[in-house]
Amino acid sequence: MTMTNKLELGVNIDHIANIRQARFTPYPDILDAITIIEEAGADAITLHLREDRRHIQDADVYAVRKHLKTRMNLEMAATDEMVAIAKDVMPEDVCVVPEKREELTTEGGLDIIAQFDRVQRVTQSLNDVGINVSLFIEPDIEQIKRIPDIGAPKIELHTGTYANTTGAEREVEFQRIVAATEFADSLGIQVNAGHGLDYDNTHEVAMIPQIRELNIGHAMIARAIFVGIEAATREMLDIMRKAR
Ligand code: PXP
Repeated sequence: MTMTNKLELGVNIDHIANIRQARFTPYPDILDAITIIEEAGADAITLHLREDRRHIQDADVYAVRKHLKTRMNLEMAATDEMVAIAKDVMPEDVCVVPEKREELTTEGGLDIIAQFDRVQRVTQSLNDVGINVSLFIEPDIEQIKRIPDIGAPKIELHTGTYANTTGAEREVEFQRIVAATEFADSLGIQVNAGHGLDYDNTHEVAMIPQIRELNIGHAMIARAIFVGIEAATREMLDIMRKAR
């Protein structure tokens, strides 16, 4: 199904807001960061409005919407509150993620088999207003089989397990991502990937030709401490380009 070999980068800016919220200062300014990230060549800005508002705030979502020049990928839980906000903000893309208050970060994909009705309702409601929905799921064939019934045009495969393993186990995880990507692509679903990707492992995932977008945050913001966000973005784009 894949028509293009282009691989896009969505930069997750939650981690910049994390630093700001640690002291409730106006800095670091996420809009200034977005300008630099976009000028460095990123294709999209990803942000997660969590139920507990631990990093991105409601006002940020509206300010980013007005400010950005590329594409907004809003990550959110499958709740009525978030659907209402998304319909008001109108991001180009929404990535529906599972959310638990006590977790450090999103720890795994949505179980769309267990939550089929809710996820289908949220997806259709966003589809109806023209927002592209992506479902953040594990690289699991049984989950992917249900995507056509849910009606989401895209999925984002959770790469966190792959990123957190080593050796033979990591190769098994990598092959799960390859198989899931090929299967989803054969069903006409756009495949994105993200979580735990860094300057060492992104190359391998970027080599999977059907993957269309990577969403990366933590490693890039950590790298920016040493080289700045512009160089951190360019370095990641360079890794992705070399893999294609
Ligand atoms: N994709 C999704 C759906 C996520 O929830 C996150 C983390 O916020 C990312 C990508 C980026 O993960 P990381 O910060 O580990 O690069």
